Amino acid sequence: MLHVENLTLKYGQSQILHSVNLNAAVGEVTTIMGTNGVGKTSLLKAIGGRHPYAGGTMTLDGADLMHPTPFAAARAGIAYVPQGREIFPMMSVRENLQTGFACLPKSDHTIPDHIFDLFPVLNDMIERRGGDLSGGQQQQLAIAR
Ligand SMILES: Nc1ncnc2c1ncn2[C@@H]1O[C@H](COP(=O)(O)OP(=O)(O)OP(=O)(O)O)[C@@H](O)[C@H]1O
Ligand SMILES: [Mg+2]
Repeated sequence: MLHVENLTLKYGQSQILHSVNLNAAVGEVTTIMGTNGVGKTSLLKAIGGRHPYAGGTMTLDGADLMHPTPFAAARAGIAYVPQGREIFPMMSVRENLQTGFACLPKSDHTIPDHIFDLFPVLNDMIERRGGDLSGGQQQQLAIAR
């Protein structure tokens, strides 16, 4: 499904990723493991279009993902759940979920039921402000979004 080849990434002059290769197949969970600061988040940011990569290629279902913007990556079907959650604390749970609509056609601007099957607490707290959820509940909200 997702194929990454020889990916390199830099912050300014500092090269963080050196020719990273990754294959993620449909129906499997692919995990990246490594010590703190080794570059896991940087790799995911590159895949999600959150940080430009310096070299290499990425394909999704055989189609080139050439330096996507976050919008283009989301539109292609890549969801990015930030390590720090980054939900909007002053917006309700419902509004936070609705921010995920940005890359979808208007006809898909309905929160799907399976989100609430997975995370029933989000349904119970749908009008509560995101910032008033517990840490783990906010994590559920970030994944659901
Ligand atoms: N915006 C940035 N500017 C400069 N350097 C950065 C930036 N973000 C991360 N780095 C550096 O890049 C390296 C990789 O960071 P990254 O966040 O990808 O690591 P990580 O594997 O996700 O770590 P952790 O397990 O702590 O989450 C680290 O040395 C970090 O200090
Ligand atoms: Mg990280």
